[in-house]
Order: sequence, then structure tokens, then C-alpha cells
Amino acid sequence: MMLEGRRVVVTGASSGLGAETVQLLAGRGAHVLAVARREQRLRDLAAGLAGAPGRVVPFRADVTADGDARAMVAAAVEAFGGIDVLVNNAGSEVQAPIDTLADADFEGMLRANVVSVFVCTRAALAELRKSRGAVINLGSTVVARPPRGRFGYVASKGAVEAMSRALALDLGRDGIRVNVIRPGIIPSELRGLTEEEERARFATGIAFGKQALSEVGDPRDVAEAVAWLAGPGGRFVTGAVIDVDGGYVLGAADVLG
Ligand SMILES: NC(=O)c1ccc[n+]([C@@H]2O[C@H](COP(=O)([O-])OP(=O)(O)OC[C@H]3O[C@@H](n4cnc5c(N)ncnc54)[C@H](OP(=O)(O)O)[C@@H]3O)[C@@H](O)[C@H]2O)c1
Repeated sequence: MMLEGRRVVVTGASSGLGAETVQLLAGRGAHVLAVARREQRLRDLAAGLAGAPGRVVPFRADVTADGDARAMVAAAVEAFGGIDVLVNNAGSEVQAPIDTLADADFEGMLRANVVSVFVCTRAALAELRKSRGAVINLGSTVVARPPRGRFGYVASKGAVEAMSRALALDLGRDGIRVNVIRPGIIPSELRGLTEEEERARFATGIAFGKQALSEVGDPRDVAEAVAWLAGPGGRFVTGAVIDVDGGYVLGAADVLG
């Protein structure tokens, strides 16, 4: 098993891409601390993976709070003895153009998407230095191809990308790799719809006109990229931005919307 014994922290593990990533990594032998605020969901996820080759330990934390981030790292050390990989996946979005975006919503996105990467990575640094580990940050293809009306989210994910490149340089001498995965349009709860509602919307063709591939992306597609970066295959990759987007950034004309 490619990830046997890898000690991984996944934030935003209570739904969507994070939950799928926990599932895939544990299935390949990694030990995973599954982190988010909705604790019951984490418990259910861990219970469902009780028979997996890797251990899954649920941990409740608000990843924008330094104290919680430090407690998260302490929990991983207690459970697994250290951290090899930190996946900064937690994030949120409020869709609104600049003139109607509330201050609190803009600041909320900056906290959930940007401050979280800062405090969680900083909290994990000592452990990542010991393991010569890796940080994987979730960006978004909207940075390369901003859709109208999502300025706050685009700005926050742009910051994630810039931070990751800067960190890849700052931490490279410690043997720590820092990379970004940019999902395209993947059904999840992020935009306030249920996964089923999003799938139905995509199935009617709304998103397909924007992609090269005529297939709906799946959280598993992103989880596979995380697994690759977390494993031996990613050994010589740092400062990279990897699109998992069905060709969304190629910029097909907006046929249907
Ligand atoms: N789905 C897409 O199409 C897409 C595209 C590009 C990028 N992304 C990025 O991929 C990542 C995962 O998104 P998703 O689509 O899976 O959305 P999602 O289903 O809404 O998941 C977001 C996760 O973040 C957690 N979270 C948010 N704020 C948090 C906080 N303060 N503390 C701890 N956990 C927090 C949520 O858990 P709790 O509410 O339980 O805390 C939830 O588990 C995000 O960074 C998102 O921006 C997604």
C-alpha cells in the first residue's frame, strides 16, 4: 500500500472533498486525523472506516483559531506520533459581487480559506520539519479563470496560491514540500446546494459548456491527486499548482451560462 503508515491531517473532513480524501487515504493505509467543526459527521466518517487499513481519528477544531490548530497538531502527535502530511482543505464560500458582499462574509472567507492555512501550517511546522513532510493546500481554478460575481472567493484562493509558492521556498531547505491542488467544478456543499442538487444542475449541462471534458468532476478525482502528492510519487514536486478540473481553465466559451 503506497501510503501505509503515513500520518496525515485533513482539515474540512466533515463533507465533500475532505471526507472523500480521508476515505481514500485510510483505504490506502494512511493514518488520518479528520478535522472540522461538525463533530458528529467526523465520528460517523471514522465509524464507517473502522475496518480500513489506516486509522481515522475524528477531531473537532475551528481551523481559523490558533489554539484549535495547536490542539489539532497535539492530537495527531498523540494518536500517530507525528505528522507527515497536512492537507489544508477546509474552506467556505459566499457568492456575491463586490457591491453586495457583506464585510462579514468577505472576512469570513479570508479567515476560512487564508488564515486557516497560516495558523494550521504554522502549528504543524515543528512536526513537518521532523518528518520532512508535505503541505497540500486546496486552491481553485477560479484563480486562473474567475467567474463573475465571486470576487471574494477568488481573492482568497489567489492568496492561498501565493502563500503556497512563498512557503515552498521558505520551507524547501527543511525538506518540506508545499503544493496546491486546484479543483474545478466538483459537486459538494460548498456553494450552499446539496451534492445531489449540484449533480442535477451539472447534468442539465450548465457546467459542461465550461469544461473540456463532458463529465462531472467527483470528489474522488481530487482525493486521488492528494494521495499522489502525499505519497512517494510527489517526492520531487514542490511549489506546483495542479489543476484537477476536466479542462475548465482552458476557457471554453460560456455556451449555457
Ligand atoms: N467543490 C468544488 O467545486 C471546489 C472547487 C474549488 C475549490 N474547492 C475547495 O475545496 C475545499 C473543500 O471544499 P468542498 O467542495 O468539499 O466544500 P464543503 O463540502 O463545503 O466542505 C468544506 C469543509 O470545510 C470545513 N470548514 C469550513 N470552515 C471551517 C473552520 N473554520 N474550521 C474547520 N473546518 C471548517 C467544513 O466543515 P465544518 O463546517 O464541519 O467545520 C467542511 O468540512 C475548499 O477549500 C474549497 O474552497 C472546492
